[in-house]
Amino acid sequence: MRQTDVLIIGSGVAAFQLANKLRHDINVIIITKSMITETNSYLAQGGIAAALSDQDNSAKHFKDTLEAGRYHNDPEAVKTLTSEAPALIKALQQQGCLFDKDKQGQLLLGLEGAHSEKRIVHGGGDATGKTLMDFLIAYTSSHVEILENYYVYELLVKNNRCVGVKAKGSDQQVEIFAARHIILATGGCGQLYRYSSNAETATGDGIALAYLAGADITDMEFIQFHPTLLYANGKTHGLVSEAVRGEGGRLITADGNELMRDVHPLSDLAPRHIVSQTIYQSLSRGEQVYLDITHVKNFTARFPTIAQLCRKNHIDLTSKQIPVVPGSHFLMGGIKTDVIGQSSLPGLYALGETACTGVHGANRLASNSLLEGLFAGKKLAEWLNKQDYTWDLPHDIEGKSKKSELACLPNLHDIKHSMMERVGIVRSHNGLLAQKNWLNSFQLEEYRHVNLDAATTETITRFFMLVTAALITNGALQRTESRGGHYRVDFPCEDNNNWRQHQLIQRLGRRLEKQDEQTKIKTAT
Ligand code: SIN
Repeated sequence: MRQTDVLIIGSGVAAFQLANKLRHDINVIIITKSMITETNSYLAQGGIAAALSDQDNSAKHFKDTLEAGRYHNDPEAVKTLTSEAPALIKALQQQGCLFDKDKQGQLLLGLEGAHSEKRIVHGGGDATGKTLMDFLIAYTSSHVEILENYYVYELLVKNNRCVGVKAKGSDQQVEIFAARHIILATGGCGQLYRYSSNAETATGDGIALAYLAGADITDMEFIQFHPTLLYANGKTHGLVSEAVRGEGGRLITADGNELMRDVHPLSDLAPRHIVSQTIYQSLSRGEQVYLDITHVKNFTARFPTIAQLCRKNHIDLTSKQIPVVPGSHFLMGGIKTDVIGQSSLPGLYALGETACTGVHGANRLASNSLLEGLFAGKKLAEWLNKQDYTWDLPHDIEGKSKKSELACLPNLHDIKHSMMERVGIVRSHNGLLAQKNWLNSFQLEEYRHVNLDAATTETITRFFMLVTAALITNGALQRTESRGGHYRVDFPCEDNNNWRQHQLIQRLGRRLEKQDEQTKIKTAT
């Protein structure tokens, strides 16, 4: 058994920001199931939102975040995030992170959907995630051990505290890690859907792990579908950043009609759920939708990653039209935490997309996610730096003992297609119920005590995907309104009296619970 003070699972922006801000006398291990660069953070094309220009301020950023989140957000969490954003960017610049600048050496600030001001900081044009992650990884010091290709498949709980994990290395050998503080920074679950902008690794593991260990999960019905994924040969091939629309890109139908013109006052830069639903309706009528880049200046220089993606998929950029479809992009819900990342299970924390602090509400504002990772990593580090590390870790941690096999789980194709079809951009009672019944037929909760030591990581991944799919489906069935990333054709309007601030909390072994207002996890001191 290996022991450490802080064990971080996942390797995106929140994980590395946390590791880099922890005291150097604290032992830290980062475990990641793939390579450290195989993350959504690394892929992020859009930037980091911060009110940095003279005409902007954090009150405007706060207001835009609540408007996009359809007022389901926790206002206190949003206030802290938006007011600390400028300092987070300045600190990175001082450390040497190279963001894009204009000829006068000032930060270039871009515009994205639902922002009332230009406030998006980019790196490498449309390679902000790579710029930031390469910087954070290079900045990591030697008190942080990084283990790649380790798959965590069980959280170990003793006396109602999370004290360790079980993981398998690439040789499939089981290893136990005991730790004083265990942090899930495993990203979202975009890969549950047929069309997704997400890295292959975003399969909802962290959420399933926390749920199966008894932590509270909330807001799972809120999935953000990004309007513009590159579409070629019946498949999606990554993101076409919203920044392209910020620079003049227009969504059009095959006969050249502007799709968003009369739909929303912000037209192509309307909130993502509105743009995605509009595109979805066109596609359902059999009309392909294109992003027209005729008015985008210096497209190839400004968006090198997207230009390369297009070339790779034989899209002729001289036609000025990029075929697009919407697909899953971001999970607003997740493991319920307080503002510093503590979950309802002592010893277990969650950060970034895996967590739900209430900051994104029902729909995340563009470029608030790298920001959240930076913010959350720093906040938790400040708290962990004040903790006592002298207490003894238990030596006798036992995992689940029941011997059984994960039998007859459905394949990836069936999981992804059914989620897209029934729990996707447009949902209905019948579709959701059909999906719930289908998922129930695999009796997932029967496996909650099963020892997974002998199962392959591929099988466990599918099991975790199904557990996460059930959490999304149950939340979506229960929320009888439409709000942000959750659209019900049978309840098409927001129901502010019954649902605006109400959260659906899911905990293993307990009926799904509706809380009348955003409840808080009490921060332990
Ligand atoms: C984008 O570039 O369109 C994505 C940015 C984000 O999701 O924040």
